Amino acid sequence: ALIGHRGCDGQCPENTVAAVERAAPHVDAVEIDVRRCGTGELVVVHDGELDRLTGASGRVADADWEDLRDLTVLDSGEPIPRLGEVLAAVPEEVGVNVEIKEPETALDALDAARRADSEVLFSSFHPAALAALRDRDPATARALLVADGGAASAVEAATDLGCVAVHPPIDLATEPGFVEAAHDAGLAVNAWTAVDREDAERLLAAGVDGIIADRWDLF
Ligand code: G3P
Ligand code: MG
Repeated sequence: ALIGHRGCDGQCPENTVAAVERAAPHVDAVEIDVRRCGTGELVVVHDGELDRLTGASGRVADADWEDLRDLTVLDSGEPIPRLGEVLAAVPEEVGVNVEIKEPETALDALDAARRADSEVLFSSFHPAALAALRDRDPATARALLVADGGAASAVEAATDLGCVAVHPPIDLATEPGFVEAAHDAGLAVNAWTAVDREDAERLLAAGVDGIIADRWDLF
């Protein structure tokens, strides 16, 4: 499966409605990052700080939605969207990988996902986010993001959380035995983040199930 990272941020302004609309015809799913802003709305934005994406100062967590909505992402003219807007923009045949950046947003993100037509796979680096989803609804599809460590610890942690998948970085996914260990435990492997064809081919050779990629035209 091809999963467009932040809505294919190599080709579109990351984590925007325009990005998921443009990427959708070319991918199996889009990956988006979720945070909460200062007035409580869930917003789709990668960074906790506003400066790289918008040139504004301060933190997303301290910003009012009324102010955030007027900012534009990477000078694209596209605003930072709310989670519900992005979910509504994804066609039902395209999946959404909702990455939970802040554990306390998990259950509100689940409420939003229940209103979406698409299949949603939640992922997080934070075990607490995945545990909260599991405890609210064991049928939620969950994936543990891992940054480093070996296959054994990633597989054990993902299994403990009842995950369907583990999401390692490319270097970990391509370590000998990683994919096999995950598959033996019944976990899919979706690796991040492929930026070019060489990355994608390495991952395919390693036998991953999904490639989280900045572009839809890697092949
Ligand atoms: O979900 C995979 C990838 O998005 C994790 O890293 O920093 O791009 O959210 P990041
Ligand atoms: Mg992400």
